[in-house]
Amino acid sequence: MCGIIGYIGMQEAYPIVIKGLKRLEYRGYDSAGIALYDNDDIQLYKTKGKVAELENLVSETTVSGSIGLGHTRWATHGVPNDVNSHPHFSNSGDLVIIHNGIIENYAPLKEELTKRGYVFHSDTDTEVLVNLIEDVKKSNNISLFEALPIALNQCVGAYAIAVFDRTNPEEVIVAKLGSPLAIGVGAYEKEFFIASDASPFIEYTNNAIYLEDGELASIKLGQGVEIVKITDGQNVDPYVQKLQLNLEQIEKGGFDHFMLKEIYEQPNAILDTYRGRLLPDEGIVKMAGVDDHIERFTKAKRIIIVACGTSWHAGLVAEYIFEEFARIPVEVEYASEFRYRNPIIDKDDIVIAISQSGETADTMAALKLAKEKGAFLFGVCNVVGSSISRITDAGAYTHAGPEIGVASTKAFTTQIVVLSLIALRIAKEKGSMGHKDYHYLLHEMEQIPSKVKIALEENDKIKEIAQAYKDAANFLYLGRGFNFPVALEGALKLKEISYIHAEGYPAAEMKHGPIALVDEQMPVVVIATRKGHYEKVVSNIQELKSRKGKIIGIVPKGDVQVKQIADHVIEIPETLEPFTPLLSTISLQLLSYHIAVLLEKNVDQPRNLAKSVTVE
Ligand code: F6R
Repeated sequence: MCGIIGYIGMQEAYPIVIKGLKRLEYRGYDSAGIALYDNDDIQLYKTKGKVAELENLVSETTVSGSIGLGHTRWATHGVPNDVNSHPHFSNSGDLVIIHNGIIENYAPLKEELTKRGYVFHSDTDTEVLVNLIEDVKKSNNISLFEALPIALNQCVGAYAIAVFDRTNPEEVIVAKLGSPLAIGVGAYEKEFFIASDASPFIEYTNNAIYLEDGELASIKLGQGVEIVKITDGQNVDPYVQKLQLNLEQIEKGGFDHFMLKEIYEQPNAILDTYRGRLLPDEGIVKMAGVDDHIERFTKAKRIIIVACGTSWHAGLVAEYIFEEFARIPVEVEYASEFRYRNPIIDKDDIVIAISQSGETADTMAALKLAKEKGAFLFGVCNVVGSSISRITDAGAYTHAGPEIGVASTKAFTTQIVVLSLIALRIAKEKGSMGHKDYHYLLHEMEQIPSKVKIALEENDKIKEIAQAYKDAANFLYLGRGFNFPVALEGALKLKEISYIHAEGYPAAEMKHGPIALVDEQMPVVVIATRKGHYEKVVSNIQELKSRKGKIIGIVPKGDVQVKQIADHVIEIPETLEPFTPLLSTISLQLLSYHIAVLLEKNVDQPRNLAKSVTVE
């Protein structure tokens, strides 16, 4: 978490850094700060709160400088306040640092530095790091570039840092381990941008260098980027990538919130995800990442899916899909649990990591563990070039486009699409599915974008339902089969953006305990698809109704039975059962969105959360 941005060039840094911070605010937004270098002086402004508050603070003064470092924070060490905000100075005031990550062994380092006379003003691990760097630099009488590897080799944890030294103002040094860091290379190497992702600099350049773990780079105006390995100082050739991202993709485009924009982008996002891969008329699915390793997939004894949050829910949907289509046993693991036990992994197992950001620390750590145990790693990521996409042996991108709203929406549906395509590809190769069913599924997948559009047409009705239940203290979400994970996802969406307590359950589990919660105050959202044990779900609804629960049914178009007993129904188009999650999810996303808006919550940046969870 935390977003970092830096600029070194010929323009005024302040507007570039502030705009960049706003784009990175999804990564953390409890405090923000900026340091600007001008005429041998470093001006530092930082404050608790959002980037807008930093702007207010700075508006009272005149700022200038063509070198700037900015930070938007998601607190790890030390509460969100002005002092703990970044950037941080070293004791001499010569060095200034911004940091995304955690220095786990900061306590013993701090103790040692305190003994050596260093004084700390904040509770942060970052202030310890900048003073450690200063100590190494001063005691060895070496440059910042030489001191950084020595200091970083003493640190345990994760970081993406940018450090500036007032005594050598032509250079900014960056380093990365575990947290993302991109360097934007401007025209004629006359300016450089440093950022947690490319969104802050995309309007200036589409040339970017993504630093790898364990790399350190010196960025010098007019001279370019020099990269070395932190462990042994070995030179690395900078690889400049051409980015596909455009500005329009990272702006709101007339929607009130990124979340709503991203919900409405799903028809196109799904289309982009299967474009070129799904060829129904030819009866094939083409995916290079799977095709190149098809034997591994067909011979796999087991697939282990590791992920967190919404991506974990996509993994649960994939469990049903893989087992149904490809007849391969699947286990879905919370990455954070998987990595801390001693999982049994066989060389014939495939470990699939699902991650929108491709940077989630727990998922990365789970992959590293699986790699050590010899598993074949496959990544399903949205962010191109992300850490997870790089550590895996093969993978398939979701192509959903940038997801800025903290609550994941289009990432979830496109993950399900990619995973369905993989399962279909394997099914065809293995012959694990009837010819007719296989072809139906291929053709039906092609219809999903237009069906998502129809599901979105229920928006006004969903808004009315949201109005009726926005003050409820609790919600239950129920589903069965393919839609049980959707119930979990619906509950998570509501919790995270409206702060209403919600639980997801398999509908049939109610009678084993949770039905005790149901009374006239309890809204229960029930997904009742035609082939999803419909009759049984109808009975479950009757049971809830007899306890006076308020039923919101998600039903296929034209349904009559649920309509008769439910308090409200939201219709979705008919589709083949394995693809119903792609439609039922849309209704639940809209429901939580409208409730949160009506409750005047910050939909795109809910409290305590951040988009990219790069701490463990
Ligand atoms: C919920 C949400 C989170 C993420 C989780 C994993 O809306 O966004 O639960 O799904 O933090 O993130 P990724 O997919 O980036 O690994």
